[in-house]
Amino acid sequence: MTVKNLLVREIFDSRGEPTVEVCIVDGSGEEFFGQVPSGKSRGEREVFVLPPKAAKKAGELLNKKLRGKRFISITKFDRFLLKLDGTSDKKKFGGNVMLGASIAFTRGLAFEHKKEPWQILQKEFFPGKNIKRVPFIFSNVINGGVHANNDLDIQEYMIVVRIGRPVEKSVETLVGFYKKLGDFLGKRYKMKNLPIGDEGGYSLDFKNNFEPIHILGELIKKFRLRKDFQIGLDAAASGFYKGGWYMFAGARLSREELLKTYERYFRQAPMLVSVEDPFDENDGGGFAELLAAEKKKLIVGDDLTVTNPAAISAAGRGKLISGVIIKPNQIGTVSEACAAMKAAHKLGIKCIVSHRSGETADNFIIHLARAGGAYGVKIGAPVKERMSKFDELIRIYS
Ligand code: PGA
Ligand code: ZN
Repeated sequence: MTVKNLLVREIFDSRGEPTVEVCIVDGSGEEFFGQVPSGKSRGEREVFVLPPKAAKKAGELLNKKLRGKRFISITKFDRFLLKLDGTSDKKKFGGNVMLGASIAFTRGLAFEHKKEPWQILQKEFFPGKNIKRVPFIFSNVINGGVHANNDLDIQEYMIVVRIGRPVEKSVETLVGFYKKLGDFLGKRYKMKNLPIGDEGGYSLDFKNNFEPIHILGELIKKFRLRKDFQIGLDAAASGFYKGGWYMFAGARLSREELLKTYERYFRQAPMLVSVEDPFDENDGGGFAELLAAEKKKLIVGDDLTVTNPAAISAAGRGKLISGVIIKPNQIGTVSEACAAMKAAHKLGIKCIVSHRSGETADNFIIHLARAGGAYGVKIGAPVKERMSKFDELIRIYS
């Protein structure tokens, strides 16, 4: 694909925060876009994000360097960007600008080859691996932590949905469950308008951090969804780790005490199958202990691993995790996000391709999941801008 022009625009995400959209025009005047989400509970080791004004400037510079150049693969395009940037954390062009460009280029290349983006990704990065497995949907229906103004320390309470056929029906069941959960919470807490968190989940106050798990479990049973619905958490524990202690449920917990809390949750709620970032991003020992104690559960790295192939390999070899979150904007290019998935596959770690708390209508992550045969896709609640991802999921997995 030949890059005729590249333009960076400022757009606003679902939280009303500014982010970027990159447009690349190809030799025949066709336009391709890449919109980049933004995260609120970011990992310390994520790549640099340029603020919109600087991002636009970076775009102008990038345009000068790219104009008229032809690239035959995503790897070659990304390598060119990486070399131009020259920093280890993408400080010069910003991971947001580079990822937007990388996604727009991928779409352009797919168009040139008359293929879907997931097909072109699969061909280049996951050859011979035409994995048809439909992923689990991780849908965040109750929000806490920094994504909400309530008393929950745990950031996300998710429904983990096993998708059946037709795919549409599974999504409809999830949408129905989300509505019924709202009705239930409204009645129980006598609230007409339930507060909603950053990822579309209900964000009222609860009795304690376990109550949402209990309620989800009861409703799953009540609506006879046990076969296909399970429960997942994202503790996002870096968010409540202060001065060497976990500030949890009004108490100051040590690693061991928090570990015991998770073990109790797993025992009390057999439907609970996964916990993401159970400990601080610098407390790998906590991850390792939990994984050793709960071999059958999914212990997932997000802030810990930041979609970085080397960090994922290290966490896998150290037996810290059995699952990993893949967020392209944590690392900043499409080819590096694919390398992160490959690093995980190599060690038998399950990949969950994920959105961010500040989302756009861009559905690229679904294509990445399809290409790399992801175990799961994490999309938030089935509402508003997140629906475009559910729609794409239905389209490309049907
Ligand atoms: P984010 O967090 O606010 O950084 O997108 C989501 C997550 O922790 O998974
Ligand atoms: Zn997370």
